[in-house]
Amino acid sequence: MNNRNYENLIIGAEQTDTEICFDNAATTPPFKSVMAAVCGFAPFYSSVHRGSGKKSEAASKLFEQCRKEILSFVNGDPVHDVLIFTKNTTESINKLAAALACESRNIVIATEMEHHSNDLPWRKHFKTFYAETDKAGRLCLNDLEDKLKQHKSKVRLVTVTGASNVTGYINDIHTIAEMAHKYGAEILVDAAQLAPHSEIDIKKPDTPGHIDYLAFSSHKMYAPFGTGVLIAPKAVFQKTSPEHSGGGTVNLVTRNNVIWEETPHKDEAGTPNLMGAVAMASALKTICDVGMNNIAAYEAELLKYALKKMSNISGLRLYCDGKETSRIGVIPFNIRKIPHQDLAAALSQEAGVAVRSGCFCAQPYVQKLLGMDDHTIKYYQNYPDAARPGMVRISFGLYNTIQEIDRMSDFLSTLTHSNIKEIRKNHEHYKIF
Ligand code: ALA
Repeated sequence: MNNRNYENLIIGAEQTDTEICFDNAATTPPFKSVMAAVCGFAPFYSSVHRGSGKKSEAASKLFEQCRKEILSFVNGDPVHDVLIFTKNTTESINKLAAALACESRNIVIATEMEHHSNDLPWRKHFKTFYAETDKAGRLCLNDLEDKLKQHKSKVRLVTVTGASNVTGYINDIHTIAEMAHKYGAEILVDAAQLAPHSEIDIKKPDTPGHIDYLAFSSHKMYAPFGTGVLIAPKAVFQKTSPEHSGGGTVNLVTRNNVIWEETPHKDEAGTPNLMGAVAMASALKTICDVGMNNIAAYEAELLKYALKKMSNISGLRLYCDGKETSRIGVIPFNIRKIPHQDLAAALSQEAGVAVRSGCFCAQPYVQKLLGMDDHTIKYYQNYPDAARPGMVRISFGLYNTIQEIDRMSDFLSTLTHSNIKEIRKNHEHYKIF
């Protein structure tokens, strides 16, 4: 086993008494390098693009430097593309949906495996169709192509997750991009889950596999300082009015008229999050120093090991196929007869393992993976406060270890319906969540 001691990169991860964190698909702890960069820069912190002091000039320069470095992390083209800072992937996707809604084509094709952030913004502005997933939950490219053929020139965009936050499946984004372009549409990749685990090259704009739009967040990349990005063709945002207007978005305002600033500034209303940009650029530098391929190889070993261990636990059901390829380290599961909330609570209280349980902000996908029929779904529509079916999810970061997987698996092997009841009695403060 390749043991690279990546725990040393993370604040607090090497403390033996800390909780095991298997919830990295939700958010990640900060890199030490990120905290050092933020603290190192703090004495020079100042207003971006608004002040005339020396600190403010340096701050503005640094902010633009971070923008360049983040764009180059995914091989963006500084002439063709704009990188707009947002607060996270969700905001990036909402911003794009609002910008594209001003155009005439009114169809977006998403997929059945999207989380809500890459679904609801499209439903709000477009007629949205969903490319199907198969029995194991993997995307059916044939169905995507059928939908593109069916709606032809009305399709503005294909939007797809780079990797699922529920099953960890990685989509073949360049093949999907080629397909979208063949039918005259563009593609958005929601890279919130992919960017922390796999190299992304959006490719040159004139190549068929080019990714037109990309969104990701720094809080899933060891820099939880409230920054996300949207990368898009400049030309698209050059012709739109800003979704949010205010300070920093204008060139000229009179009582009767407004002339907007150029993008990205008109699309970043209010004081920019400079510390967030510094943190994100620093995290990406650390990832590059370690080597994304090394991270991917290490996490693949964790995934392979965990899948094997978990497949041998009696009563444990995986909601994904057993293949280790084209996946990031995310595993959804349940244990027979144990409600997902109780399982998650027991893992935390008894084994010191933090996970997420429920539907992971991807309810339609989880409903399908659970095999819920229309009748059952209707029941929860009628009784929205009823305890819902769901799953438990573990998700790895680069600092997790084989020993941690062993600790979790050993605990899971001891669980039965009756000892869960016992555990619950001993922890009256358990909350159903
Ligand atoms: N979508 C994030 C998750 O999977 C929040 O936990």
